[in-house]
Amino acid sequence: MNTTTTTPVASNTISENDFLPLEGTDYVEFYVGNAKQAAHYYMSAFGFQALAYLGPETGHRDRASYAVRQNKLTFVLTTPIQKDNAIADHIYMHGDGVKSLSLRVPDAKKAWEETTKRGASSYMEPTVMKDNDGEVVISGIHTYGDTVHLFIERKNYKGVFLPGYKAWSNPYYQPTDTGLLYVDHCVGNVNWNQMNPWVKFYEEVMGFRNILTFDDNDISTEYSALMSKVMSSGNGFVKFPINEPAEGKKKSQVEEYLEFYNGEGVQHVALATNDIVKTVLELRARGVEFLQVPTSYYDDLLDRVGHIDEDLAPLKELGILVDRDNEGYLLQLFSKPVEDRPTLFFEIIQRKGAKSFGKGNFKALFEAIEREQEARGNL
Ligand code: FE2
Repeated sequence: MNTTTTTPVASNTISENDFLPLEGTDYVEFYVGNAKQAAHYYMSAFGFQALAYLGPETGHRDRASYAVRQNKLTFVLTTPIQKDNAIADHIYMHGDGVKSLSLRVPDAKKAWEETTKRGASSYMEPTVMKDNDGEVVISGIHTYGDTVHLFIERKNYKGVFLPGYKAWSNPYYQPTDTGLLYVDHCVGNVNWNQMNPWVKFYEEVMGFRNILTFDDNDISTEYSALMSKVMSSGNGFVKFPINEPAEGKKKSQVEEYLEFYNGEGVQHVALATNDIVKTVLELRARGVEFLQVPTSYYDDLLDRVGHIDEDLAPLKELGILVDRDNEGYLLQLFSKPVEDRPTLFFEIIQRKGAKSFGKGNFKALFEAIEREQEARGNL
């Protein structure tokens, strides 16, 4: 039985009863083993530009952080430079991964008050950070695993990134961008039977709505299965699908993730582009590796999705997937994991009207993932 359900997304306006108005993703922070090299990877492979730096030279003795930016996308790569600190512990447990999905808010104190009074566990009380360029208010709450949401209020700040950082650039190296624009959605993998509790968390604590549900009949192959619910902020600017494993003949990709990440965490971050063919050509030329579906996927593609504006040949050549919903279509492609553990990966997505997540591609995609799992000895 197919139980996929859809609820229309609210219009992109902040309603008066939205107790947690979100203006979008402010930045994604990764805890990594070597931030200097990770920053270089996101610049050289993904086309980000150097933006800001924080470390011993700016008075921080325990860490180094590099902020890189491309259009509305900001990534922060943070590494510990001393033992016995929380960043080092995070990396020991999880390997490289996402620590913070940081959200832009008009009022960080109110965001913290509204969410903690509804049951969120505090990660950081509202804190005012100042320098010569003004002030930023930051607060934060815990979400699944060791992941957190920081609330960033920056309306009174005109510096390059955050107080405490200094502007950073490399005079020898300014990579050209690859057309990546903003965060489309971020997906979390949670433990068995934990999808619904986290759905409830996003509903009750953050005022999100469940806009799509996929059960294990939607997302299963011969061997493995998962379930997923898509949570959306009231204004639709922030979307967090939540996955949990489902019973199958063999180990699902979510179970493999949970085993190697040592718990719940961010599975993938989807990055939007307006020209996926151009973006993927650039990313491939710079060494980003993508999952490949069999070329037979394209044999009856147009029968499945109807007319699309793009030529089929480059889509087939690059392995780009297409899916259609009631409102339009989307093009998408998934990278291989970007670290040695089979954990975090990226999705590249171009939406042409569609507001969904590529359900029609799940089977072909998960079979491609299983071939990779098999090669790792984890299926
Ligand atoms: Fe996705």
